[in-house]
Parts: sequence; structure tokens; C-alpha cells
Amino acid sequence: MCGIVGYVGGQNAAPLLVEALGRLEHRGYDSAGVAVVGSQLKVTKRAGRVRDLADVLPKRMSGRVGIGHTRWATHGPATDVNAHPHTDTSGTVAVVHNGIIDNAAALRARLTDQGVALASDTDTEVFAHLVALSGADTLEGKVIDALDAVEGTYGLAVVHADFPDRVVVARNGSPLLVGVGEKEMFVASDLAALVRHTATVAHLADGELATVTAAGFTTFRRDLTRTQTTAREVDVDPSAYEHGQIDGRPRMYTEMLEQPASVERALRGRLDERFATAHLGGLEMDARSLRAVRRVKILGCGSAYYVGQMGASLVEELARVPADAEAASEFRYRDPVIEPDTLYVAVSQSGETIDTLLAVEEIKRKGGRVIGLVNVVGSAIARACDGGIYLHAGPEIAVASTKALTTMFVGFALLALQLGRVRDLSVADGRRLVAGLQALPAQIEQVLDGEERIAEAAKALAAAESLFFVGRVRGYPVAREGAQKFKEISYRHAEAYQMSELKHGPLALISPEVPTVAIVPDDELTDRNVAALHEIDARGGPLVVITHAGVDLGELKAERIDVPRNERELDPLLLTVPLQLLAYHAALTLGHDVDKPRNLAKSVTVE
Ligand code: AGP
Repeated sequence: MCGIVGYVGGQNAAPLLVEALGRLEHRGYDSAGVAVVGSQLKVTKRAGRVRDLADVLPKRMSGRVGIGHTRWATHGPATDVNAHPHTDTSGTVAVVHNGIIDNAAALRARLTDQGVALASDTDTEVFAHLVALSGADTLEGKVIDALDAVEGTYGLAVVHADFPDRVVVARNGSPLLVGVGEKEMFVASDLAALVRHTATVAHLADGELATVTAAGFTTFRRDLTRTQTTAREVDVDPSAYEHGQIDGRPRMYTEMLEQPASVERALRGRLDERFATAHLGGLEMDARSLRAVRRVKILGCGSAYYVGQMGASLVEELARVPADAEAASEFRYRDPVIEPDTLYVAVSQSGETIDTLLAVEEIKRKGGRVIGLVNVVGSAIARACDGGIYLHAGPEIAVASTKALTTMFVGFALLALQLGRVRDLSVADGRRLVAGLQALPAQIEQVLDGEERIAEAAKALAAAESLFFVGRVRGYPVAREGAQKFKEISYRHAEAYQMSELKHGPLALISPEVPTVAIVPDDELTDRNVAALHEIDARGGPLVVITHAGVDLGELKAERIDVPRNERELDPLLLTVPLQLLAYHAALTLGHDVDKPRNLAKSVTVE
């Protein structure tokens, strides 16, 4: 979603800002712009891609201080006028903003009454006018006056022609980082925009502001009391953040292929063969507090929620602790009951998803304990949790999540194993699971080796306007994730259903034009699943079955894709991987840009 960059230093800001915006492209956006303070304040912004902005950037847009933005429309369509930065009427102040100003309508009315002519449909523009109208004599004072009037979430960066040496930034709910260079400083909403320039980074906390000049930065609160936020070295490999295709393949493809390595990283140092358990030091919970857990509640959004459902099954099966997953986006709106002996688990690749972050804050406000399963180190959700498990998937650039999801599954398996072993999970079962987890990287490799066959099946599916993905019990969240991946990048209608529920309604839709992708592992439910497939087959519905070698599909007319056997509890991971390839090849067949699906953002930072 929206991205912020900023620069103060000795270089010409505009090209540097545009380059940094390009590094935020994966977040999803529909317009881009920059503001630079030189002899005067100059703004260039455009609906469209960052390269469209680069094409129209005036050659003489010089200045050593500036801010830039990629916008994902919330208030008003994607037009040049609605793109950020927004300015006041005189063009003295420029503002870029992530998040939403909730009382924008009231503020717009108030400004209009005061005779201010608003140029755009956005909530952000009001902030530029409020800064300009402030009587404070410092930029910090003006920004604070404006903040006093707004309600909502924000990451903000402000420049002012009368204060040409600085960028002032403020954070409430939307991430903001300050990067420290050699006599130059950077601002960004995402580490990806900074890594080419510096690995010394400070994360602002909610409620903090910062003044950023070429000499350094200071942080403070709205009452002007100084805070002690400092910059730290982050362990990053800049090349992992490079965008664009690798060897002519989309990022999603590269990321799918990385899964054996990322799963291995997620497991590294966390399995204990001697005691047949897992050790997750980051949980910061000893055996006694783990034993005191009476329930596990998992919260995430989109695919993270579906993997959360897989995680809930793992916890119930291995630890025999009641567990369920819920969409974080729903949870926080229903005034949830928070129980002291429930372990809440927030799961997120980006660590920025606002609904998940707000769910964490709601739990903590009510005194609950919440741990995070998060990929991005130091992200807002990771920092808001009481402890947690980093996924070690590495940077994920493609909007359609793949390698982060498989490491989430591994994180849940490790958590369930550790919870189980402090309870009644036997040594023998513990050993079985440890061995199963260790086998996963090589088995994922095997699934990926079957790409050609999966690509063939995908071509046929791409022709259908509408598809079902079905599974039962452990297979159902796999079906949900498969349908999600398929619809995200192929734009086909893909609906997930419990296999058991088919004959209670959706069977009416089955026809030769509506294919079904069925998840049929070799487990205690195989016979029931195969019986349901016969009902589909009898109505002429084409079938693709993701299953294990040896499962007897009888006379079914079905395209079958076999995945390697592991322990039953771990099946969902290996069943998920072919569904990623299926979605990918269907999208390629249809000619879509798989890395930048329409209307979607990598990090969903607005409610
Ligand atoms: C996955 O392919 C999707 N792009 C999306 O559902 C994603 O999983 C969801 O928005 C949650 O993101 P997060 O893991 O960064 O919190």
C-alpha cells in the first residue's frame, strides 16, 4: 500500500527519491509523486507507475531535501491531483501521508468555511492546510498543531519552504523509519527503500515525531519531550530486496523456488532431537507458563489467516489444546472477550497489516498475552507482541505470498510441538514430528520438480470462469489458500468449500464448465473424500486432485497431482505448494503480471 520516502543531505533529492519509490512498488500503488525543497518548493506527481513519474520529472527540479510517495487510493480516485505530496494553497508546505485521517470530512468542511479552496478529494490535503495555517514559529510546532486537529492513523512526512534544512515526520499506526547515512539522512515507511543506502535504521514508535536534518535526527512527542529512539544496525542483504524479474522469471516464481531453503532456515536451531521437541526462545515462556495455556487463538488476515487455520489444527492435534483461527479484521470489531489463560498468536508476513496490529493492541489493552509469528524483523506487529517467532523467510516481494506462508506453517508446527511436549505428546510422537519437519525441505523440492505437470493442469483451469477448491478438515484451509492464490493472480472466481458441505448447496453449480480442485490426502478421511469426488464426476465436473501416491481414485476422470507423504499433521504444507504453482501458471496462461495483481497491495496498512 502507500509508501513514504524522504531525503536530507548533499545529493540532488528528486532522482534519489524516485529511485527509492521504485523500491516500494511491490507494496501496490496507483500514483506517485515527489516534493523537493530548493530555492522554492516544487512538486511533481502523477497517476500511474513510478516510471511515469520519472518520465515527467523536470530536469531542473533541484534541491537537497525532499519527500516522495506511492499512493494506493482510499479517498478519491487515482488521479494526478489526488496523488501525494499535497500542498497548501500557497505551495509552501508539502505533505505525504500513509494511513487514514478519520475526521477528514469535518476538517474539510471547517477549512472550506475558512475560505480554503481544497484541490483534491483526499484526506491528506487537509493536513497541508492545517500546517500552513498554524501560527507556530517552528516546523515542529506547526506539525504538532496540525496533529492536534486530526484523528486517525498516520505515517507523515512534511517539508516547508521556510525551513529548507529538514523533514519532520510523525507516526501513529503506520510504520516510519529513519535511515542514517554519511552526512545524509533518509526516511521511509519500509526498509526496502533504505537498504541500498544504509543499514543503520531507527524505527519510530507510535506517538513519536522526528526532525531529520543532514546532521542527524531527534525524536520527541507532541508535548515536545525528547524520546530516546536510537538507530541500530540491521542485518540485511540489499540484493534480497532487488525488484523485478530474476532470470526472466517473476518474483513470485523465485520465491516459490526458495521454499526448501526458507523452510530450512525457519527450522534451523529450533529442533531438539534428544528431547523430541522444539525450542522457541523468542516465546519467552517457560514450561510452566506453556502448561498454563488453556486455549490458543490465532489471528491473521487473508492467507495468513488460512495458514492460521492450519496452525490451529496442529495445536489441537499435537498439544490437545483447543485452538481456532479468526480473521483479525473481524476480531477487533466485535469487542472480543480476552481470557487470561488463552495464548493469542498474531501471524503476519509484513508485520504491518493494520487489522492484525490493531487486534494485537486490542488484546493487550485488555490484558491478554499475544505472541507474533512474523517475517519482517522489527516490524510494528513484532514490536507490539509480548514475544514471538521470526519466520526467517527472507524478504518477500511478490504480492501473492508463498514462501512466507510455508514458513508460517513451520512456525505453527514448532509451536504445537513445543506446547505438545510440555503436555502429553509422547516422545515417540515428538520424534515422528521432528523427523517429519526435517524431511520437509527435500519434499518441497520434489513437489517443485513436478512443475511441468502442474503447469499443464493450470492451462486447462485458466479457461474456466469459475472454479471450486474443496477439502475436508486439514484439507479445508489448504483449499481456502489455494482458492485465494488462484483468484489473486488469475482474476478467476475461485471459491473454497468444505468437501462435506458440497451436497448442501454448491453441487448445484457443478457442470463441465466449473472445474474443482480437490485436496485428498491419504488419511482417515480419504474414502469419504473420494466418494464426494464421485458426486462431482457424475455431474460432469472436471477434477484436479492433489493427493498422495497410492490413493485409489477408482474410475474417476481426474487429473491427479501426487505430493510426497510426510506425517499426516504436516500434510497441509506439502499439499499447498502445488496450488501455488497452479495459480502461477494459470495467471501466466492468462497473460497477467503475477507480481503486481490489480487492486492489491503487498502490505495492507489501512483498515
Ligand atoms: C497473500 O497472498 C495475500 N497477498 C494476502 O492475503 C496476505 O496474506 C494478507 O494481506 C496478510 O498479509 P500479512 O501476512 O503481511 O499480514
